[in-house]
Amino acid sequence: MVAASQTLHDAIDEILPGLVADRRHLHEHPELGMQEYETARFVAGRLQQLGLEDIRTGIANTGVTALIRGTGTGPNADRTLMLRADMDALPITEENEVEYRSQTPGVMHACGHDAHTSMLLATARLLMERRAEFAGTVKVLFQPAEEAQPGGAKPMIEAGVLEDPRVDASFGLHMAQDLELGRITARPGASSANSDRFYITVQGKGGHGAAPHTTIDPIVVASQIVLAIQTLVSRETDPLGSAVVTVGAFNAGSAPNVIPDTAELVGSMRTFDTDFRDHLAERLDTLVTKIATAMGATGTLRFVRGYPSVVNDEGMFEIVRAAASEVVGPDNFVIKPASMGGEDMSYFLQQVPGCFFHVGSKNAGRGLVWGHHHPKFDIDEASLGIGVEVMVTSVLRYFATENPPVRA
Ligand code: NI
Repeated sequence: MVAASQTLHDAIDEILPGLVADRRHLHEHPELGMQEYETARFVAGRLQQLGLEDIRTGIANTGVTALIRGTGTGPNADRTLMLRADMDALPITEENEVEYRSQTPGVMHACGHDAHTSMLLATARLLMERRAEFAGTVKVLFQPAEEAQPGGAKPMIEAGVLEDPRVDASFGLHMAQDLELGRITARPGASSANSDRFYITVQGKGGHGAAPHTTIDPIVVASQIVLAIQTLVSRETDPLGSAVVTVGAFNAGSAPNVIPDTAELVGSMRTFDTDFRDHLAERLDTLVTKIATAMGATGTLRFVRGYPSVVNDEGMFEIVRAAASEVVGPDNFVIKPASMGGEDMSYFLQQVPGCFFHVGSKNAGRGLVWGHHHPKFDIDEASLGIGVEVMVTSVLRYFATENPPVRA
């Protein structure tokens, strides 16, 4: 039990060794997306020890949820706030020489999801101990497969995690290796990109390399397409907005004197605005089909929508900003620049107002500078306590707010 006088900060200092141990345990035993069986068992076991209610497992394969019911008084007794963590690792061989390095060959927690999972367990522990300090329900959610499309968030929503009880709002966090330890960052509105992929096939007519007039050369046609789609960003995107269209692969032909039948282009498109995303996808289709037609070939586009943009609710952002300012000081709360990375927290944020914030974990003095998805990725573990403190403070602030943001 926690002494009533103990501050949240002191309580976190006290549980930090256990939090670090949990993170290291998960780091040593990483599992790829949709295979987080041991991780989910570990999580469910901890939640049971902590006494959470209504623990549900096996959601969308390995997802776990559980409830904490506040016993205090406040204006939001009938509200449910969901806290989300992701559990999956990456197909990367760890190059760190640390005691707690991955024990599973070829698999590594190189994005910090081990930290997110252990931090949400610590958050659950602190909120259980502080049940009397709020009225309302907290739903903790551990999801599979953030790294690989279609991700774990979407199937968990389809499995009903936003109902029973109905979730009103949500918070989530991510480690940030491009941000110094002791800093917190978030952005109101669109914060990460819509990340989509496209596959273009140009069907020409193959033949002898010395008789091009008897063929329709798909390499030349596809080259025109590659150049034309550069104008989607340079000529059709607002200079004050932003977008990326990258052709990452161009596959055609196999011999010096043969004109092939087909050429294939594979690429990615990143945008922030949803309408502009639709507009560019449509323009891409027009350029592919019409340029190919004009040159006597047939062009087809397959556009595969990836994770939508993370869009933070202004009101939820303000709650996190206030909490972070309290924990790390207002000067250490930074408005996050929008990023082109993808993140499937966005599916939850499409349904309920929320804020996804980032926790600085870089420490150049200790050589902890490697970025996400790098084989030498590692965090300064002092960030674990800071992130938990901001999260718990945000939760308590949410429940104390008169008329907080809620789902429509
Ligand atoms: Ni990640």
